[in-house]
Amino acid sequence: MKLSINLVSTVVLFSGLASAANSRRAPTPRRASSLLINPDAFPDLPTVQAATAAADAAGLNLDDIQGDVLIGMKKNQELFYFFSIADAVDFKPKLASDIVPLITTTTQLLDVSTEPTTLVNIAFSQSGLTTLNVTDALGDSAFTGGQFKDLKTLGDPGSTNWVPEFAGTGIHGVLLFASDTVDNINTAVAGLEAALGDSITKVYSLQAAARPGSEAGHEHFGFLDGISNPAITGFTANPMPGQSVLNAGAILVGETGDTVTTRPAWAKDGSFLVFRQLEQLVPEFNKFLTDNPIVEDGLTAQQGSDLLGARMVGRWKSGAPIDLAPLFDDPALGADPTRNNNFTFAHADSVLATNQTRCPFSAHIRKTRPRADLGTPEETVHHIMRAGIPYGPEVSDAEAASSTTSTERGLAFVAYQSNIANGFRFLQQTWANSANFVHAGVGVDPVIGALAGAQRVVTGLDPTDSTKATTLTTDFVVSRGGEYFFSPSLSALASTLSV
Ligand code: HEM
Repeated sequence: MKLSINLVSTVVLFSGLASAANSRRAPTPRRASSLLINPDAFPDLPTVQAATAAADAAGLNLDDIQGDVLIGMKKNQELFYFFSIADAVDFKPKLASDIVPLITTTTQLLDVSTEPTTLVNIAFSQSGLTTLNVTDALGDSAFTGGQFKDLKTLGDPGSTNWVPEFAGTGIHGVLLFASDTVDNINTAVAGLEAALGDSITKVYSLQAAARPGSEAGHEHFGFLDGISNPAITGFTANPMPGQSVLNAGAILVGETGDTVTTRPAWAKDGSFLVFRQLEQLVPEFNKFLTDNPIVEDGLTAQQGSDLLGARMVGRWKSGAPIDLAPLFDDPALGADPTRNNNFTFAHADSVLATNQTRCPFSAHIRKTRPRADLGTPEETVHHIMRAGIPYGPEVSDAEAASSTTSTERGLAFVAYQSNIANGFRFLQQTWANSANFVHAGVGVDPVIGALAGAQRVVTGLDPTDSTKATTLTTDFVVSRGGEYFFSPSLSALASTLSV
């Protein structure tokens, strides 16, 4: 664990926030340690100075962008609080007076001394904006329709598995609360609930948390997650080797690179937040690996099972990419952000279009970012900023022994983008769920690919015979539904949305 951004020596001082946008804020007590996690393998966030210089050069206002949008998957504890607006007339002034002053900006998260006790962000669904009488079209048809309408497009097998509250358009917004302790979050929630009174109604909530100890940063199947998020021009100071570099408009509406030019002015610097509650059947996944080890000279059965898991994901549990470490995990590679993303799937000694010895075409990270498979330089349209976090308990001894899930756990998947049809929806529908992407017959993504509950067939998982087909009879990731939201800039929250 890196100490640089996690510890500060002085804990009792009060921080005055530098920018004009933040000067109206009440002083916030300094924290003793960061509310974020920071595994060695993740690229560091830029310093305030570096980010400010990058933002100035690109004309980006990091004080106006909600803090969760650009930082990636780094939270410790997070509560997703889904609400409906019961009384818009009552809610609007409270949005300005009670919520906006609490919203954590991007700049604030770049230094422990300016982090709040609890990060608070807010985003609205289309039905939420309509309830607030904000009628401008945001130029994103997926957002306008809502996620429930998209269920078949995403490959979900109907809504039987959906959390009932997500089925429909009854959720108007989501408040994100993140901190290092649940107590801090509960205090923030209680304070806000008291201030908002009956203007909103809680519809549903999901408490999520980084996994314990050395598993922090790993999703429930055990793989380190959050290594490869894009670098953003105007924010990221030093992109890591192999990290994709995107114009800010890929994630932020109205910035350079946003593909839609007809947005209302107030939407600038907002971002579409896709939320998905993705249950993970961990004991069942582990049993599949145990039952189907890759058989290769020099590998024990356990190593063969580990290799199968790594080939389904495209990385080892440590984060080391199999494109660089094809047979055995290499934890030092996994932990090194200057090396763990520095690959393209292309190699001088093999044919890119056919060779799966190192990494199957269907591997989760190859499906969702095909790198050189789609040509060089890499495309920059279908990238997202992932900001999810695991939820649910660790696997119990009884679950492990019976290879059966009895308590729900999974990934509270969050992705930001300026265009849902190019971002999350494209990755899920057109790449992960297509057996013919990136080449005919390679099969679906064995982690997230979904065919409305039908059996999934994948080739390439066995490096000794890449034509061998593997049939996956279980969906190890089960969609429990979600919603599409828009996370507006602070200035939009304080003006258009609250009047
Ligand atoms: C429970 C469900 C999921 C699990 C367990 C999972 C797990 C992982 C892991 C372990 C990585 C590699 C670490 C990293 O590069 O950060 C990864 C990368 C990634 N995942 Fe997922 N993921 C899930 C859902 C999704 C979904 C729904 C999408 C989008 C539709 C997605 C898109 C991506 C992308 C874009 C990357 C980065 C690829 C790269 O840049 O190389 N993931 N995921």
